[in-house]
Amino acid sequence: MQEFRAPGRVNLIGDHTDYNEGFVLPIAIDLECVARVDGIGDGSVRIRSRELGDTVDLPADGGAQPFSVDPPWGRYPAGVLHVLASRGRPPVGMEIVLSSSVPPGAGLSSSAAIEVAVALAACDAAGFDLAPLELALACQEAEHIATGVPCGIMDQLASISGRRGCALLIDCRSYEVEPVPLPAEMAVLVVHSGVPRALAGSPYAERRAACEAAASRLSLRSLRDATAEQVAFDRRARHVVTENKRVLDAVSLLHAGDVEAFGRLLSASHASLRDDFEVSTTELDTLATALQQSGAFGARLTGGGFGGCAVAITARDDVERVAFEALKRYRKATTLEGRAFYVSAVDGAGPR
Ligand code: GLA
Repeated sequence: MQEFRAPGRVNLIGDHTDYNEGFVLPIAIDLECVARVDGIGDGSVRIRSRELGDTVDLPADGGAQPFSVDPPWGRYPAGVLHVLASRGRPPVGMEIVLSSSVPPGAGLSSSAAIEVAVALAACDAAGFDLAPLELALACQEAEHIATGVPCGIMDQLASISGRRGCALLIDCRSYEVEPVPLPAEMAVLVVHSGVPRALAGSPYAERRAACEAAASRLSLRSLRDATAEQVAFDRRARHVVTENKRVLDAVSLLHAGDVEAFGRLLSASHASLRDDFEVSTTELDTLATALQQSGAFGARLTGGGFGGCAVAITARDDVERVAFEALKRYRKATTLEGRAFYVSAVDGAGPR
């Protein structure tokens, strides 16, 4: 019996930059999906979800149409099998039990964690090898066909490339990943707004298209190459250009150990996502403000937006107080019950 684990991720800064060939700074977190392989053989893949109790049966040759698989969580493994088959994975069947501590609909990449855990199990069962970057790209493609959402590479690459105690500076053009050590006195606090998030049906694809249109108007390959002057009057593109700069500045501040200035960049990122890119919600705005007012060095929505979680940076010995105060403020303002997660940076996916 083999087990493969794949972590979720929280993005510290750099949202809606990955599909513009820009920079992101996520950490792989200690919430993960585990795929336990119980048996190998025949022509079908049977996957049971331990939390949900239901099972999906898929042809091992990846022939299932992911979009029509039911229950919907089965679309991710179906996408993975489909993409791996197109890359040459032999059609070896297996039985898997999936179990995940990454909350779904939170913006913490629960789907990427499923894809990566299943992909590792499927490759291992079939004696098929893919380099880490190829595996991340295959899982990104699986997400595209499972959900129809044209996501970038951040979530899958973060799950695969995580490094204990480090954030990951990912250059989404070259796919280079540089681990950036997190200062020991800094804590990462994630708070769920209590409003679920789904990117399918959200304006995510529309935002991506607006960015591509802006790049093409400027005759650029992507907004990665745009200057601040070129996008001064285009709010969507301006977010991307200023956010890329914030990510690189954030990395310098982490290297310098200036946690407070790092936090201020997170709050500036939230303002840009709210005002320029318009992917926030009233609840996420209220939550980010509550965290900032409760003593966090900075706070912002994290991931795609439109619901889900905020991430905040605090002093390590102050994190529980900040969480308590912020949840109280948030409850008072919205009547919603937020949920705090104290996360740490872990190593990327692999055998357990
Ligand atoms: C989602 C996508 C990522 C990225 C973020 C926004 O999480 O899956 O590729 O685009 O939104 O930064």
